[in-house]
Amino acid sequence: MGLRRLQVTNLRCLRAIELQADPHYTLISGANGSGKTSVLEAIYFLGRGRSFRTHRPARLIRSGSDRFIIFAEVESQQGHLALGIEGDAERLRARIAGRDAASLAELASHFPVQIIDPDIHQLIELGPAVRRRLIDWGVFHVEPSFLLAWQRYRQALAQRNSALRQRLSANLVGAWDPELVRSGEEIHDARLRYVARLETIAQPLIERLLGMHLELRYRSGWPAELTFEEALRMQLGSDRERGVTQVGPHRAELVVQVDGALAREHVSRGQQKLLAAALAIAQLKLLELEIPEQPTLLLDDPAAELDSEHLAALIRELRALRAQLIVTTLDPAFKALGEPGRRFSLHHGEIRP
Ligand SMILES: Nc1ncnc2c1ncn2[C@@H]1O[C@H](COP(=O)(O)OP(=O)(O)OP(=O)(O)O)[C@@H](O)[C@H]1O
Ligand SMILES: [Mg+2]
Repeated sequence: MGLRRLQVTNLRCLRAIELQADPHYTLISGANGSGKTSVLEAIYFLGRGRSFRTHRPARLIRSGSDRFIIFAEVESQQGHLALGIEGDAERLRARIAGRDAASLAELASHFPVQIIDPDIHQLIELGPAVRRRLIDWGVFHVEPSFLLAWQRYRQALAQRNSALRQRLSANLVGAWDPELVRSGEEIHDARLRYVARLETIAQPLIERLLGMHLELRYRSGWPAELTFEEALRMQLGSDRERGVTQVGPHRAELVVQVDGALAREHVSRGQQKLLAAALAIAQLKLLELEIPEQPTLLLDDPAAELDSEHLAALIRELRALRAQLIVTTLDPAFKALGEPGRRFSLHHGEIRP
C-alpha cells in the first residue's frame, strides 16, 4: 500500500491530527471549512514537495504557530518508510527514515501521489506550465535518470540566463549551450517516450468517458525544423536583447486535442474536468505497469460538478485502479465508491474516527 499512517501538526486549520489509512479506500467527511482539503494538501505535499493550492508553503502554517509538520509512514520498495516535512517561514526540511533527505525530490521518489480535485480542469485551461509538470511527474517516476538531467538543465539554464542578464559576450553566453543541449535533449526524449505511452493508455479511457478521440502532441519548445542546438544559435541575438533564453524544454507544450480540435476551446467545463481526470487516471495506470509500489490517489469532493451518469463512469474507472484511494466528501453517507475500509469525520480541524 501507499500511505499507512499520517500525522499533521499546525497545518492550516489542523492543529494536530493523526489517522491510519486503509490500503484501498479511506473516506474523510466533514462540513465546509472543516479541513478536508487541508488533509489532502498535507498528503500531497509529502509526495510532491509543494501544495496544489499555493506556491508559498508559508501559507500552510497554522495562524499563530511558527511551523507545520507532516509525518507519514508509507509502504515503499524498501518496506516501511518514515517520511517527514517540516516548514517554517523560511524553509522546508525533508526527512527520510530519521535522517535529512538530500532533496524534496528524494522524498517524492518514495511516495507517488496524484490528485483529482474540483480545480482539475485547469490542467486543460491554464498555460503550458501545468501540463509540463504533469508530464514531468510521470517521467520522474518511470525513468530514474530524468531527475538528474532535469537538475543539470535547470542549472545550465539559470547560468545562461544570468549571463544574458549581465549582457556578457556571445561567447560567454554560448559556453553554457553544450550542457544545455545535452541535458535538454535527454529531457525531450524522455518526455516524448512518456507522452506516446500516456496517449495509448488515455485514448480508450477518454473514448469510454467522453466518447471523444484524444490526441496528445508534445511540442519541444523550439521550432520543429531545427535541432535544439541550431535553435539556440539562431535565437542568440534575440535572447541577448531580451536577457532570457527563449527556446528549450522549459518552453515545451503538451497540446491536448479531442476530435481534432484544441480541447481548451472545444469542450465544456464539465468535459474539461472529465478529460483532465482521465489523464490523471491514465498516468496512474501507466505507473502501475512500471513500479512495484501502489500509488496513492487523492479525490477531493468527486461529486462536485459532475452529473450522476458521468460520475458513475468516472468511478468505474477509479475502481479498476490498483491505487490507494483517499476521498473527501461533504456527505457522510457517500456510497458511490462502495464501503470505505476506514472512515473519518472532521469537525473544525479535529478528527473523529
Ligand atoms: N494558515 C491557516 N491557519 C489557520 N486556518 C487556515 C489557514 N489556511 C486556511 N485556514 C482555514 O482552514 C479551514 C479549512 O479549509 P479546507 O479548505 O481544508 O476545508 P474543507 O473541509 O476542504 O472545506 P470545503 O468543503 O469548503 O472544501 C478554512 O476555514 C480556512 O479558513
Ligand atoms: Mg475542500
